[in-house]
Amino acid sequence: MLCHGITYDGGGPDGLRTVKTDANGTSYWSMATLEDAQTVGDKVTTEACKRCHINTGGKVFSPYGTLSKAFKYGTDFVAESYELNYDTGDGTMATATIDGDVHAAAGITCADCHYAGEHKVKYGHHNVSWAHDIVPDDFNCSSCHGNAPHASSENAFKATFDGHADFLACQTCHIRSTGGLVFRDLTEPIEPYGNQHFYGFRDRVEYGVEPEYRWFNGTSGGWEGVLEGPCPIGPRGGKWGYRRGDGSKITPFKRYEARVWFDIGFGNAVPYILKDFLVDGDLETAADKGVDASGWFSKGAYDFEFRKSLGLVFAFPMICPLKLNHGVQSGKNALGYDTAGCNSCHSSDGNFWTYLGYSSAELQSLQKNR
Ligand code: HEC
Ligand code: HEC
Ligand code: HEC
Ligand code: HEC
Ligand code: HEC
Repeated sequence: MLCHGITYDGGGPDGLRTVKTDANGTSYWSMATLEDAQTVGDKVTTEACKRCHINTGGKVFSPYGTLSKAFKYGTDFVAESYELNYDTGDGTMATATIDGDVHAAAGITCADCHYAGEHKVKYGHHNVSWAHDIVPDDFNCSSCHGNAPHASSENAFKATFDGHADFLACQTCHIRSTGGLVFRDLTEPIEPYGNQHFYGFRDRVEYGVEPEYRWFNGTSGGWEGVLEGPCPIGPRGGKWGYRRGDGSKITPFKRYEARVWFDIGFGNAVPYILKDFLVDGDLETAADKGVDASGWFSKGAYDFEFRKSLGLVFAFPMICPLKLNHGVQSGKNALGYDTAGCNSCHSSDGNFWTYLGYSSAELQSLQKNR
């Protein structure tokens, strides 16, 4: 149903999955109907992928963009820009424009690009998942567009675009903004509000967020945020991308920050049993049972509160840069279209140069307007 159902919308109001109660008082997730099941049979649509992959992190389920957050790595992938009303995380509402994507507008589906055959998905080069399907070497913008994609462009700067592609990832000029879940505090359960059923995390959701730019070569990466707090997820990376010599290009990322409990004894974030955290709002039990189940703590039963009082457990930030690949812009919406576009990089405004490691002498010339 999740992948092949056409009409399945989570079974709750507004395309959300909700908790229902049967005649015996037992709770269960809202489900698909028989009519929904009869729509299974065709290829996986973009809407089906977006049941899980809208924006990054979170818990809400919905295929139609009514949600503010969902699983892991999400995507902005709509044919036309639209205004989204969203909850910033604490019940406050805000509005932002979500950029369209040239491929969505051309009718290309997620599966057209991502299907690897045999029910596997092509992962990109900055995946943050432990489970892998396939990470093909030649899965990037150039595998379809070649290395001189601007040859037939009529833009006077077309030589600059192709030249700059030696050190800028295509996404750097072709994706302008990002959004979704930007911060999650996992250190205490927050009581459900509105029509929510479970305890949650304290979240911050923002759209129209400027990307952060870092050097990345397809394997470097996982620890870019190391000075501010590592992102210990994902098997790839573990080293910095460099300006020269390792094939890195300047690449746009979304910054995602999480606050977790860290135990110095086993050197990792404290894992939870989610039932205790989300259903009962009981952090202590969730942590005690979670660590016991992990096998990371070898000195008897784990006592979260006690270790916290000794200072062995403390709140710790994790900074995870997530690579941007969708929300692709063309024409005047791509950076560099005209001198104003060149100067969104070649000036001292904005955060483009922040993490790139250029010396102040170099910046003096690079930040000169074109
Ligand atoms: C035009 C082709 C295209 C379409 C359409 C497309 N993608 Fe992608 N996607 C890519 C490419 C190429 C990459 C990886 C780029 C790289 O690693 O350099 C990528 C990366 C990703 C990533 C990043 C994670 C990673 O492994 O690095 C996710 C998640 C993703 N796509 C999901 C989706 C979803 C969901 C949709 C539809 C809503 C979609 N994509 C539509 C081409 C596409
Ligand atoms: C039922 C929810 C669900 C659906 C539907 C779904 N995905 Fe995923 N996807 C996930 C989860 C969860 C992960 C993370 C797996 C992990 O952590 O190992 C993931 C991982 C990925 C990744 C790698 C991202 C990363 O962080 O490394 C890509 C790419 C991807 N999915 C593409 C797709 C495409 C394309 C579709 C539609 C054909 C799709 N997914 C449908 C839940 C879903
Ligand atoms: C699976 C092949 C494929 C991949 C991968 C792919 N594209 Fe495309 N792209 C296409 C197709 C097909 C079109 C539509 C062409 C058309 O309608 O003229 C397109 C259109 C575009 C356009 C608009 C062209 C125009 O004439 O206005 C841009 C810009 C673009 N892609 C950039 C990118 C970037 C950046 C990436 C990497 C994030 C990427 N593409 C990845 C196949 C791909
Ligand atoms: C320095 C910024 C920059 C970089 C880097 C860049 N592009 Fe572009 N690209 C542009 C701009 C701006 C346009 C729009 C030009 C116009 O419409 O006048 C464009 C247009 C395009 C088009 C449409 C071409 C046409 O004939 O109209 C495609 C396809 C494309 N880019 C793909 C890519 C790919 C693939 C890469 C990476 C290999 C890339 N771009 C790197 C700025 C850039
Ligand atoms: C996305 C950011 C970005 C955009 C947009 C951009 N540039 Fe650059 N440009 C750079 C970076 C980064 C370098 C330095 C690369 C290096 O390390 O050699 C650079 C270098 C240059 C250089 C050579 C070094 C110098 O100081 O003169 C020229 C010339 C240049 N850019 C012109 C342009 C023009 C013209 C445009 C608009 C068509 C443009 N750039 C758009 C990021 C950008």
